This record gives sequence, structure tokens and C-alpha cells, in this order.
Amino acid sequence: MAKKVLITRIIPSIARELLTEAGFEVTVWEGSPMTQSQLIEHTKSVNALLSLGSNKLDKHFFNECAHLDVIAQFAVGFDNIDVKEATNKRIPVSNTPDVLNEATADIAFGLMIAVSRKMFYLHKTIERGEWKQFEPLKNLGIQLTGKALGIFGMGRIGMVMAQRCKGAYNMNIIYHNRTRNEEAERKLGCTYVTFDDLLKESDVISVHSVLSEETRGVFNKSAFAKMKPTSIFINTSRGGVHDEGDLIEALKTATIWGAGLDVTNPEPMHADNVLLNMPNAAILPHIGSATIEARNGMARLAAENIIEFYNSGKMISCLNPSVLKK
Ligand code: DGY
Repeated sequence: MAKKVLITRIIPSIARELLTEAGFEVTVWEGSPMTQSQLIEHTKSVNALLSLGSNKLDKHFFNECAHLDVIAQFAVGFDNIDVKEATNKRIPVSNTPDVLNEATADIAFGLMIAVSRKMFYLHKTIERGEWKQFEPLKNLGIQLTGKALGIFGMGRIGMVMAQRCKGAYNMNIIYHNRTRNEEAERKLGCTYVTFDDLLKESDVISVHSVLSEETRGVFNKSAFAKMKPTSIFINTSRGGVHDEGDLIEALKTATIWGAGLDVTNPEPMHADNVLLNMPNAAILPHIGSATIEARNGMARLAAENIIEFYNSGKMISCLNPSVLKK
């Protein structure tokens, strides 16, 4: 009998096509995002789940859906999944690394330039009819050439961002990570520093870490206080890594120069959030992976992870490989 797969939102059609060609019976949830009880109810009748970051796969979910053979997430981030609990239930879980590196680094890079020149805010001043004449002393930004870029979380996306900044602005790259990234040091001349030194020495800090108990809220009042008053904070990973109240305060008091966020906490950000009207902030609605190429790549990889699991017992990008057959 054909194995059943549930895809929890409409995603690029390549996922459904690949799974169907491989003989799976595929259901795509086409309604508005599933509630938790809908997710559990509909997962009960399938063998495999193709989930999104908005699905909460917590301990309760795994207790209710312990029958699942496999989960393939359509995202590189997996802070919505209790992977430890999946492992306890011997359910392999995969994510979609690499295929979105370029797209996400582009958004970090774009936000960095936008904040350095106050682009989002100055665009709004034109809409408000405030552009009257050339202003020799107003609307001044800061240049990025030769400045220090601090990467927090030097993984694959962090490396692409570092490469972009080195090539475009000959920036000096420092980074802080759980472990040393020798490839980044060798290929891009990046230097490992402590978290404190990252804060003190960077002209731009770009966050590319996962959201975990270790990283939750690390960019808080005390961290912003250590940064340079001319520094820029960029976050394209997860909104939980910074404390929003502390960031707003740091921007209001000019403790730092500015901030560019593609991720907020909570998401979606409310339309009356003060950050949206601050001259030194640039906010985007979590579009890091939103290119046609990246989203197709994510859909393909998620489907291939499921197919590979049933074909060979292996997965291309498994987060808990200890549960796979040796
Ligand atoms: C990811 O892949 O983690 C992106 O943030 C989209 O969820």
C-alpha cells in the first residue's frame, strides 16, 4: 500500500510531483495555516509529514503522533521541533540546509546597506512630502568599506555573508561560534573572537545562529551596551536571538547606529510596532529564503529526504541521524 505524506501548506509543486512520482499518496493542506489540533488530527492518518517552521512539533505532538515514520521540514531552522523528543520516539527529522544560503545572505547584506544609509526611513520621508531640497548636512549615512563585520553563528549562511562583505567592502571578518570554523578562517581569513570581543570590535554584527536555549535573548541590553555607537545590528536568523524591548531602547538612545531585521519576535510583527517608524531601523517580513530558486530547492530537498528515507533508510540532511539504520 502506498505510504501517505501530509504537506502542511501549499509549497512549490516540485515536492508533490517528486513524491507522487515516487509512488506516495500525497495530501497538501490548502486551507489557512493549520491549528495545533488540526495538525495532530491530520497527521494521525499519514506515515510521513512534510512540515513548515510554523508547525509546532512539541512533546505533546510527538506523544500523539509517535506512529510517524519520518518528518521532513521545509526550512533550515528547526526551533519549532523538539528534536530530542523525536529522537526518543525514534522518528528521523530533516531540514533544508544550503539551498537557501545565497538568498538569506542577500537579505542580510541588503539590510546592512539599507541601515547604513537609512534607506527604508528616507524612502518614507519622500512619501510624506518631506523632500524639499538637497541637504548637505542631513540624511548622512556611514560607509562600510574596510569596516569590521562580526558574524554571530559562522555556519553556511554566515560564510556566504562573510564572502559577500569581503568581496564588496574588503571588510575584516571576525566571528563567534560554538566551535571554531576552520574553513571560514582558511578561505576567508576570518578570526574567531569571544562574544564580548565580537560586541566591542564589530562595526556590523550579523546574526546567523540557530535559536536555542544558549542563543535565546543573547542580544540584550548588556550586549547592546558593549557595541559601538556607530555599529549596526542585523538579524536574519530568528527573532528570539535578540530582545526586542532592549533593541528598541538601544536604537532610541543611540547606543547603536541602527538595526536591520528580517526576523522578529513575535512573527508576524504587529503593524503598529515602533520599530517600523524608527529612522534607524529597517524591517522585512521574514523573506530570507524567499527566492524562486531557494524555495524550489527547499521543496525538492524536503521531498527527497522522505523518498531517500523509504528507499535506503538514510536521509540527505538528517538532524538526528542516530535514529537511522546503520
Ligand atoms: C528557514 O528556512 O529556517 C527560514 O527561516 C524559513 O523558515
